[in-house]
Amino acid sequence: MENRNVKMHLGVFFKNTGHHIAAWRSEQSQPDAGINLKHYVECAQTAERAGFDFLFYADSAATREAALEPLSRSSQYTAYFEPTTLLASLGAATSRIGLVATQTTSYNEPYNIARRFASLDHLTSGRAGWNVVTSGNDAEALNFGREEHYEHDERYLRAQEFVEVVKGLWDSWDDDAFIYDRKEGRFFDPEKVHKLNHHGKYFKVRGPLNVPRSPQGYPVIFQAGISESGRELAAATAEGVFSGELTVERSQAHYSDIKKRMPRYNRHEDELKILPGVTIFCGHTAAEARDKEEYLASLIHPVVGREYISTLLGIDLSDCNENDHLPDRESKTRAKAGIALSIKAMAERENLTIRQLYMRLAGSHGKLTLRGTPVEIADTMSEWFHNHACDGFIMQPSTMPGDLNDMADLLVPELQNRGLIRVGYEGTTLRDHMGLKRPGSRYVGA
Ligand SMILES: Cc1cc2nc3c(=O)[nH]c(=O)nc-3n(C[C@H](O)[C@H](O)[C@H](O)COP(=O)(O)O)c2cc1C
Repeated sequence: MENRNVKMHLGVFFKNTGHHIAAWRSEQSQPDAGINLKHYVECAQTAERAGFDFLFYADSAATREAALEPLSRSSQYTAYFEPTTLLASLGAATSRIGLVATQTTSYNEPYNIARRFASLDHLTSGRAGWNVVTSGNDAEALNFGREEHYEHDERYLRAQEFVEVVKGLWDSWDDDAFIYDRKEGRFFDPEKVHKLNHHGKYFKVRGPLNVPRSPQGYPVIFQAGISESGRELAAATAEGVFSGELTVERSQAHYSDIKKRMPRYNRHEDELKILPGVTIFCGHTAAEARDKEEYLASLIHPVVGREYISTLLGIDLSDCNENDHLPDRESKTRAKAGIALSIKAMAERENLTIRQLYMRLAGSHGKLTLRGTPVEIADTMSEWFHNHACDGFIMQPSTMPGDLNDMADLLVPELQNRGLIRVGYEGTTLRDHMGLKRPGSRYVGA
């Protein structure tokens, strides 16, 4: 194992009550968390105290598509704040931590997104990041005048053009365009504003943006696609990638696959950090960690558990018993195809029933789960990192604030003592935390 001479990057994935599907029933969470600003402020301040590079808030522009019975027993994506609005508030309650939000390219216009994230970057003095998704929830289409979601490859083609337009709009103004010269009566220098005049296959946008170039030049761009087109978009545009591999070998393959694509876009592999999602059950002892996980699993209602696996894989399991094995059915939604493949492989390898699967995956949403003492967990994180399976992790607390507090108080000090992560912050912007350069404008020096 090679010892990498850089630090690991850690983000924390905020989800109202926590990532576990039964989290809202635990005393370690806050049942009304999705619409409780005080709760999010406390969590953001905890994450900042721990020194995480950023907090991330995911999104879907629709409630989950599920029958009312399981939906009414779950807290996931039914009552929660719109991400960029929430992050603007959290920006005012923190001073260093990066703030990353999902916004979809399928049901937004590039101008709105460019404006929203440039504003967020100004409001937070350079701490904003945009997770570019094409929408994993097919039901979003029904809220935006469409009968069905865009076809998978097409929505990635749209996304590629969308991101290019957004970046073009972010370059509307040179960094020094606004001179505010009261004496001469000049607000900005007219030579330093640029209209985009974009006429593409999917978008027609004139510009310029009505927000000056933001502190980071471009807010940091994240992506989480697993498919061929998702990986290509990541290699072309992303600076952070959220991934979902379950083994060190599969993650190494994913890591090198994306990084090898980057030179085709004139990019160096250090310009992108790959962060697998990981759920942590951490305790002072291994037994304490196991108890926590078992307690949460015991709170899963069987109706919710079966529906959870069904949604995760995009296959109908309504005719199955929770003690059956997974039937061999193809995923109905191509958005889930990548996740489905990796979970089916695990179920087959370990001969798991539907119940065993939801007991196993409910806390992690199909991503890596690490359990044990801080030392045991840090050992695995270090192994993944030093073997080039990742550049860090996106940490998923099972309950919030409970597990987030444990990450901050137990695990982070262990990682810091090993020199795996920095202690506190060295810079002020999200780019500083992630070791990313500030991009120049396409017009300056051109
Ligand atoms: C950590 C992580 C976070 C994600 N966040 C979102 C999200 O907020 N909204 C969304 O629609 N999809 C989200 N996704 C799904 C991805 O954008 C993507 O659709 C999925 O990984 C399947 O890949 P594909 O689109 O290339 O088929 C996320 C995925 C991961 C691994």
